[in-house]
Amino acid sequence: MKKIVIAIDGHSSTGKSTVAKRLAEYLQFVYIDSGAMYRAVTFFAIQSHCFKNDKLNNTALLEKLHDIDIDFQFNNKTQKSRILLNGKNVEDNIRGMSVSERVSQIATIPEVRKKLVTLQRDMAHKHNIVMDGRDIGSVVFPEADIKFFMTASAEGRAKRRFEELQQKGETTSFNEVFENIQNRDQIDTTRKHSPLIKAENAIVIDNTNLSEDEQFKIMLKTVSDYLS
Ligand code: CDP
Ligand code: CDP
Repeated sequence: MKKIVIAIDGHSSTGKSTVAKRLAEYLQFVYIDSGAMYRAVTFFAIQSHCFKNDKLNNTALLEKLHDIDIDFQFNNKTQKSRILLNGKNVEDNIRGMSVSERVSQIATIPEVRKKLVTLQRDMAHKHNIVMDGRDIGSVVFPEADIKFFMTASAEGRAKRRFEELQQKGETTSFNEVFENIQNRDQIDTTRKHSPLIKAENAIVIDNTNLSEDEQFKIMLKTVSDYLS
């Protein structure tokens, strides 16, 4: 039977993964965080010294690309997934500023995108999925059943992300987080391959003034109407 795909794209820190996880849990679908895949490749690139003084050596990374194995470990009971890089759970290594500052550069490389898009499509053969990212509705699954495009003011997003990082004990400043979000938005929307754009038939959710619950209810209503 054809599997259902719900695609959630949008700017950084707009609450995509929070609502995607909640929808997946409610619907008993599998949640796939495509950003985590780009983050895992970035973590690999840092670990394997592909960055020299913050400058990426593309050739070095491309030579090692076939050494990168990315997978998710699904827990069927909780619907939660953990990202595995070469068999190791790297969830706790990929969310900090050192990866955030480099990930959008890695995501511009077409060979990296090609590899990850293939993996993303494979996952949709096996499960009903909710996947979030930047190009899910536009490139990975142009035929997705439902597409959402999420946005919110850059300041509001930076505040949310800053509070999250503070809670995790990461030493950073609001300005550093704000700049990172603006930089990533800039790179993500202007890159040549698969830039962040609203897919033609995507439903726009601006959650600047929406609580997590309000937003969840709006999105769940759309999904429920579609599935009924
Ligand atoms: O959680 P946050 O919105 O900060 O970012 P993310 O979803 O973890 O994605 C990290 C970065 O990966 C983004 O800023 C993009 O550069 C890249 N990305 C992408 O190019 N395509 C995707 N489908 C997902 C993420
Ligand atoms: O995945 P993405 O980077 O788009 O964002 P996220 O990591 O899901 O969410 C960033 C933060 O925004 C989290 O701390 C959420 O609790 C918060 N938030 C939200 O997700 N939705 C709202 N409507 C308001 C806040």
